[in-house]
Amino acid sequence: MGSFTYIAPDGTVRSLEVPDGTSVMQAAIANGVPGIVAECGGSQMCATCHVYVDEKWLSKLAPMQATEDAMLDTAASERKPNSRLSCQIVMSQEIDGLVVHMPERQV
Ligand code: FES
Repeated sequence: MGSFTYIAPDGTVRSLEVPDGTSVMQAAIANGVPGIVAECGGSQMCATCHVYVDEKWLSKLAPMQATEDAMLDTAASERKPNSRLSCQIVMSQEIDGLVVHMPERQV
């Protein structure tokens, strides 16, 4: 169990308590956090779960795989060095407290 914090483009902050093994995307969808669409349900085929990971958390994440890297190139909002697919970020003790910023749009 740990927390994820989501920051919307307008500055709205929402924090959730999330069980281990739950992705940033799954938690957002399950709790009605706006800004994540997740059209493909987490199979790295849509990029509508794009988020910008707060810089201080970047080094704590598992490395990006080739599929995620390629899919981020199709994201609707600008890709940045801290862009990740939120369906690929899963709660564990190492990332308890993770902060993500939502992009302006997902489609
Ligand atoms: S939900 Fe589709 S790539 Fe993450």
